[in-house]
Amino acid sequence: MTRHLRSLLDLSPADTMRVVDLAVEIKADPSSCATALSGKSIAMIFAKQSTRTRISFEVGISQLGAQSLALSTSGGSGMQMGRGETIHDTAKVLSRYVHAIVIRTFGQDHVDGLAEHGSIPIINALTDMYHPCQALADLQTIREHHGTTKGKRLVWVGAGNNVAHSLMLAGPRAGMDVVCCCPRSLPPNAFVLDQARADAAAAGTKIELSHDPHAAVVGADVIYSDTWVSMGEEDEAARLLQLLADFEVDEALMTRAGKQAIFMHCLPAHRGEEVTDEVMDGPQSVVFDQAENRLHAQKALLMLLLGARPWS
Ligand code: CP
Ligand code: NVA
Repeated sequence: MTRHLRSLLDLSPADTMRVVDLAVEIKADPSSCATALSGKSIAMIFAKQSTRTRISFEVGISQLGAQSLALSTSGGSGMQMGRGETIHDTAKVLSRYVHAIVIRTFGQDHVDGLAEHGSIPIINALTDMYHPCQALADLQTIREHHGTTKGKRLVWVGAGNNVAHSLMLAGPRAGMDVVCCCPRSLPPNAFVLDQARADAAAAGTKIELSHDPHAAVVGADVIYSDTWVSMGEEDEAARLLQLLADFEVDEALMTRAGKQAIFMHCLPAHRGEEVTDEVMDGPQSVVFDQAENRLHAQKALLMLLLGARPWS
């Protein structure tokens, strides 16, 4: 059966930790997988901008001995998808050429459609709904800094967005409690919240909602922040900046959380909005470890999805 990463719902708790374990192994010894995917070709479709995702996938694919094709959906060299070729036809055509598709796009339906109509693994590299590759790298980073993800408490400070959704699904899979601290008018998606709560009940962890950053961060092991204006929300920027004005992570908030708390951000950051320079560059910040771990976690994911290593 072809496996995908459309969202973390595609991974069981054991699968999730398998990706993290393999990512840790790969980071310790990158040469162990230098030919793991030799002879494979992987398409990467980007309908939104990217620095970390595109570069870490491109470098990672090369480090596994495979070929990557970075494709856009616009401009003179863009794919016909940008001119209306259907997801159905795109999935069927690419399945004849490449061994997997990594896609960053707007609607989750594009990711789901590629998986439905193609015959190769589809990896969600960010949609308006989810960012699962980020969450996998984040679990690796939390383990590195706290020794484990189990029993830890992650407090999200910001809008209930794509990155928040993936962390809410990651928490129960990694034995971690997640607090989504967001403005009342920018809550997480109701389906994701219900799903995360059900997963947490099964795992014996917690998913909480809060609207007060100063109360929520007390005792946190991780404080996590993201841009206030996600890609595709530019027209709403003024409203979002106003709604999120009290959700900046600054030194006062980090002090309230305590010395054990690490600061995380998926990047790119808007310094002076969701986070201050002092926190970004401060001793509790692990944001560049997160960026690095995208490389290792995605290599692990590709190896598992493409059968170069067993899931169990
Ligand atoms: N965090 C992340 O996905 O970064 P990019 O948008 O630069 O890929
Ligand atoms: N929430 C952000 C994440 C960027 C990596 C966005 O979707 O733009």
